Amino acid sequence: MALWDRRLHIVTGKGGTGKTTIAAALAVALATGGRRVLLTEVEGRQQIAQLFDTPPLPYRERKVASAPGGGEVFALAIDADEALLEYLEMFYNLRRAGRALGRVGAVDFATTVAPGVRDVLLTGKVKEAVNRPDGTRPSGLAYDAVVLDAPPTGRIARFLNVTAEVAGLARMGPIRAQAEGVMKVLAPERAAVHLVTLLEEMPVQETVDGIRELREVGLPVGAVVVNMVRRPLLAPAELDLARHGQLDYEELVTGVKEAGIEPTEELIENLAWEAAQHAERVALETAQRAEIAGLDRPVCEVPMAADGVDVGTVYQIAELLRSQRMNP
Ligand SMILES: Nc1ncnc2c1ncn2[C@@H]1O[C@H](COP(=O)(O)OP(=O)(O)OP(=O)(O)O)[C@@H](O)[C@H]1O
Ligand SMILES: [Mg+2]
Repeated sequence: MALWDRRLHIVTGKGGTGKTTIAAALAVALATGGRRVLLTEVEGRQQIAQLFDTPPLPYRERKVASAPGGGEVFALAIDADEALLEYLEMFYNLRRAGRALGRVGAVDFATTVAPGVRDVLLTGKVKEAVNRPDGTRPSGLAYDAVVLDAPPTGRIARFLNVTAEVAGLARMGPIRAQAEGVMKVLAPERAAVHLVTLLEEMPVQETVDGIRELREVGLPVGAVVVNMVRRPLLAPAELDLARHGQLDYEELVTGVKEAGIEPTEELIENLAWEAAQHAERVALETAQRAEIAGLDRPVCEVPMAADGVDVGTVYQIAELLRSQRMNP
């Protein structure tokens, strides 16, 4: 099944690499052309609301954006306490009892009895959204796709591998059934885990490790999204010279003069030093790019937005992801 056509897209990556931004852009991209997509987060940080400039999301799905061609993006901040109450009600008609347990206390209690329950509650809610029927829609489903702004790479395999997490629980019970339902939704024909990285050593290393861990537990690895890519400011031959401190001094002087600046010796030396730094960084990026290529996954590059990310940038990144279908 082509990556683009999967129903559940999970976006992970090292902290701060752009998971929320890319997840939001992917949701808009998947909604483009008239589809309905749910964008979810599970870490209680309200990052989706911040990105779309809307008030904090309640535990209720709310439309946050329109996509070109009549598409709609809904968003949901999944909360473990609320998910537990919903779960108790669904299986035991126990919502009121759940409330009586005290909102925070209930999940703490459940998590103490069985570590891993929190993750099953969170992923269980994602599963419910993926599978939710809606007879009024052509697909028969409430959402054509679900995008999850997921925990970071270091925790993703454990977070998703819920059956292993709750293996200590009774072999049958409803939590176990819930975990098995989650694993079904995470099958390769239905889901993909995309990894966001930068062209830097640490995030790339986390991507390499993350992909290995996901593969070890049989979770479907999707694309690698290289975010915040900057174009080199010099041509390859110039970069080579700059790196070895061999830029033509006279040319630098001429260039600086043409820019209407007094070419003092200090200025020219600083300029050559900056060029060397830049060339060094580009060389490191080239090495990281090669490492990423070796992962044998579709790679999608997203440029650095000079003025930071706003809703407009999210739409631009969405168009880029859509035109490549994450699979250039
Ligand atoms: N392509 C881009 N160009 C410029 N800035 C970007 C780009 N992508 C993300 N950013 C900025 O980088 C910062 C981190 O992005 P984001 O919040 O999406 O990352 P994250 O991985 O979700 O972070 P966290 O681990 O805190 O959840 C934000 O300030 C965001 O606006
Ligand atoms: Mg985030």
